[in-house]
Amino acid sequence: MNEARPLEPSADEMRTLVDAAMRRIVAHIESLPSQPAMNVDGATDYARTLIEPLPSHGSDYEKLLDFLFDEAIPRSFTAAGPGYLAYVPGGGLFHSAIADLIADAVNRYVGVCAAAPALVQLETNVIRWFAEIAGYPRGASGVLTSGGSLANFTAIVTARKALLPDDFLRGTLYCSQQVHHSFQKAANLAGFPYGNIREVPVDAEFRIRIDALEEAIARDRAAGWTPFLVAGSAGTTPTGAVDDLEALARVAKRESLWFHVDGAYGAFFRLTDRGRETLRGLEQSDSLILDPHKTLFLPFGTGALLVRDAHALRRAHSSHADYLPDMQQEDELVDFCEISPELSRDFRGLRVWLPLKLFGIEVFREQLDEKLDLTAYAVDGLRAIDGIEIVAEPQLTIAAFRLLVEGRDPEELNRELLARINAKKRVMLTPAILDGRFVIRIAIVSHRTHRDRVDMLLEDVRAAVESLR
Ligand SMILES: Cc1ncc(COP(=O)(O)O)c(C=O)c1O
Repeated sequence: MNEARPLEPSADEMRTLVDAAMRRIVAHIESLPSQPAMNVDGATDYARTLIEPLPSHGSDYEKLLDFLFDEAIPRSFTAAGPGYLAYVPGGGLFHSAIADLIADAVNRYVGVCAAAPALVQLETNVIRWFAEIAGYPRGASGVLTSGGSLANFTAIVTARKALLPDDFLRGTLYCSQQVHHSFQKAANLAGFPYGNIREVPVDAEFRIRIDALEEAIARDRAAGWTPFLVAGSAGTTPTGAVDDLEALARVAKRESLWFHVDGAYGAFFRLTDRGRETLRGLEQSDSLILDPHKTLFLPFGTGALLVRDAHALRRAHSSHADYLPDMQQEDELVDFCEISPELSRDFRGLRVWLPLKLFGIEVFREQLDEKLDLTAYAVDGLRAIDGIEIVAEPQLTIAAFRLLVEGRDPEELNRELLARINAKKRVMLTPAILDGRFVIRIAIVSHRTHRDRVDMLLEDVRAAVESLR
């Protein structure tokens, strides 16, 4: 190490640093299939032992890596592993990790276009590709965010500024009772009291009831409210339900509402023939969120927002400061700080751009098709188990089931069933409450989940059901 400049490693030191990390990363990724699907017993107690004062001196690099890979990383949900069928799984494409290393190492500034026009263009291309996948027109705009929550927030602020006066507290928003809670949270952060958000009941397939939506809008208008936004779900979190997006688009048009779609989980299924059919109407939305860190298998920290009217997005977010370089005035070039809440930010576009350029979109289409097939296969297998009821049939790649045994309390029984399935640690499942019923979900999303893991799931469910009879 150069004692005078310890923060500037030599070429050899950089190689050594990367090689040592890479050895452990490769071993870790290779071991993902044999890692427990979750390993958090005692993890919180262990976490408390890590509290320490600000270090005044450095530590040995190898020892720090050992600590990370041997102690800290293993004590977690194996969210990047094949058995993680919980919540909405992420992926963790290795190629995106390489992109992050490059982006962080070169550390170019992409908050304003003038600072790195070519890199900003690469990220803008990613947004264009997403718009193409979504069926949005060429003039659409958008921005990569840290995730779906921030994308929801940016969308709601854009819609609010496009449709409501500065004094907007008569504005009401509509969503289904099954919408992801980040929608209500985003609306609240955008200034709307929770009392302005109408959670509309769902039908037997957990999709927003259009008749109830229309009634709610009429009721609000009669009471002097200003309905201004309706949100559809292109795949809810509990059951993967896809609202009737065509019907929502019609209602939004007739009522002059902003039509927002939460496609954080589901929108990328438009790449597949089956998904495109299920998601009909999504392309008519005014704004759409998609999470590449879900159904494009990217590492966490990559969400996206598309907005049909590029000017609305810019009007809502542009602001001026003398000390910044000149902003772009042409439609073709974008300053990310003009269309999002952020100024300084990471070059997150590279994390999407690199894998899409490396593989092309077909590989992702095939992967998503495989997940649709796997989910159908898993649900057929579950249905064949005596006593299992499929509570939510898969509309994409999430489904929900429960066990019914005469004389047994269903909630208690299914809590125990879930605990026994998860105890094997080959898969990790999570529950949901649907109409007061405790159900067990499966979410097959990861690029690392294949038929062998679904067979393990079915084996473990069968064994757990047997042990409960
Ligand atoms: C349907 C849906 N929408 C929005 C979100 C929020 O996205 P994020 O966690 O990326 O902020 C999630 C998260 O799981 C989700 O499943």
